[in-house]
Amino acid sequence: MQARPLLEARRLDTTLIDLGTTRIDTSADLGYSRTTAQYDDEGVIFASGARASWPALEHIATDDSGCYEVLGDHTERIQQMSTWSGRLASLYPTTGPPALLLSGTLMHRIKGIHPGQDTQRKLQPLGRLAGVRVLDTATGLGYTAIDAARAGARVVTVEWDPAVIDIERRNPWSAELFACEMIERHQGDVAEVIDSFEAAAFDRILHDPPVFALAGDLYGGAFYRQLRRVLARRGRLFHYIGNLESPSGARVSRGVARRLAEAGFEDVRLQPDAFGISARG
Ligand SMILES: C[S@@+](CC[C@H](N)C(=O)[O-])C[C@H]1O[C@@H](n2cnc3c(N)ncnc32)[C@H](O)[C@@H]1O
Repeated sequence: MQARPLLEARRLDTTLIDLGTTRIDTSADLGYSRTTAQYDDEGVIFASGARASWPALEHIATDDSGCYEVLGDHTERIQQMSTWSGRLASLYPTTGPPALLLSGTLMHRIKGIHPGQDTQRKLQPLGRLAGVRVLDTATGLGYTAIDAARAGARVVTVEWDPAVIDIERRNPWSAELFACEMIERHQGDVAEVIDSFEAAAFDRILHDPPVFALAGDLYGGAFYRQLRRVLARRGRLFHYIGNLESPSGARVSRGVARRLAEAGFEDVRLQPDAFGISARG
């Protein structure tokens, strides 16, 4: 829901409110689609019948780092404490699809780019996706899985945190994860789930883990050997890391490149625009 344009419409249109309800073009699903809502002096009434009061909208407009859903006659911040990891998962507003915030760490790029564009950059090093089998190691909000499936790939994706899965279900931009037949979802630690996949089961792997500090084992030689095992000969890997020109990105990428080569990957290359490293099986 987008509170500020609604408050602005009301401010510009107060004379119409005196005449009764009026209509406004808005979005009830975090900008995924447009709809028409009515408003009166109590608040906004969406096409679904859900209502958001003006005080609730004013509160939402002051929250720069949260996204909200309208449920019946109240609004709720989209966030979930993980009883499992102890991390708070929430949605962070951007100029495009929302980003995922885990324990205060953003899981998507938002500076000068939005998560939709970030997703395209991550998939670009994988080349053609039509008709191929893709392993997406860390579902997150499912943007990489959804875009790979839209490009014609069969996608297997793994997410370990139930709180993130709750957020996926509440994020309109993640809906295709649950509706698309080309996407197979698994819940669990990918370092364990991967044991169940056959050798050479995938033509492409998109490895987009949290930062090294939050998921060090997903940057380790043992996991890379498993990635190599499930990737078909001459298959392609893209490993997202973060800005390779930052001091931490440069340090982490040196270790990642070395361990990928040691695990048997070939043609290991830095991809600065995509903030990661590509390699071939
Ligand atoms: C950077 S996000 C992935 C973003 C995703 N590519 C997208 O398009 O939204 C990383 C995700 O990995 C998940 N994760 C962390 N450790 C994991 C593990 N061991 N197995 C599977 N998922 C894991 C986190 O909960 C988080 O949702």
